[in-house]
Amino acid sequence: MTEEREALRRKLADSNGLRGLQRHQPADVEATVQTFYRDGFAVVENVLTPAQVAFLRAGCEREAAAIMALDPERKGNRGPNRYSYGGASITNSVLHREEWAMLVDLPTLTPIITAIFESEDYRVARAAGDFCMPGAEYQRLHADIGDHSGGFHDPRGIVSIRDLPCPVVCCNFLAQDFTKFNGPTRQIPGTQHSREPIPSLEDEPEWMRLSTVYPAPAGSVLIRDIRAWHGGTPNLSDDMRAIPNAMFQAPWFHIRQPPSIPRPMFEKLSEHGQRICRFLVTDDALQTGYRI
Ligand SMILES: [Fe+2]
Repeated sequence: MTEEREALRRKLADSNGLRGLQRHQPADVEATVQTFYRDGFAVVENVLTPAQVAFLRAGCEREAAAIMALDPERKGNRGPNRYSYGGASITNSVLHREEWAMLVDLPTLTPIITAIFESEDYRVARAAGDFCMPGAEYQRLHADIGDHSGGFHDPRGIVSIRDLPCPVVCCNFLAQDFTKFNGPTRQIPGTQHSREPIPSLEDEPEWMRLSTVYPAPAGSVLIRDIRAWHGGTPNLSDDMRAIPNAMFQAPWFHIRQPPSIPRPMFEKLSEHGQRICRFLVTDDALQTGYRI
């Protein structure tokens, strides 16, 4: 390990992790929604059982291996050693795999998503997520959506997508613990409505770099308003850090997605799962695979 890496490791050991990070339980629906609307994100533990975590983690490793087989130099598709499953998938999604289909209607999470949107009539955009390998560095802070998304644009230039209620919720599931060293996501509380410019890596204050979702155990979910500022952090561990996701669109918002779930997989979903995935199902043979 280089001297620089060792210094970073010491700093992360001392100070990595958001001060006062609240972690909710699945039954705390109201408190979770309040935290979500206040901070632009919320963490809920025990959304997945240990068996579901093991199943999901194995799926993440299998799909990551398929992606990295196309990228022996580990250039990544989100910077070196950093990958988006959705960005690599030719359907933009991994919903054709059971591990991801499992994520769209969990009894521990559906009541929270329903409460956030105050409606059951939200829809799945996709299920994908990301992973980073040892050696991944800081990813710059960013938002996952801007104006002109989902058909939203105010030609008068008055209302920004940042003035609206939350249009899209991204649920990132922890397929392992978030530790101080394995690249936990950093989230900047209260930025979901901000119109300030998002700082570059060079301009980012130290406290933001350390504002990571730590500690949070495997089986937790990080529920994000995708407008909130966030970014990846260095993976100094020896293992992959994977956070597969499911993304839900508000009933009044629609980003068109290509078909991503074959009919036989769709039919395994619950009634609610089928309703919220109805725009993603196809009867055609779905071509799946990855490109870098
Ligand atoms: Fe992002």
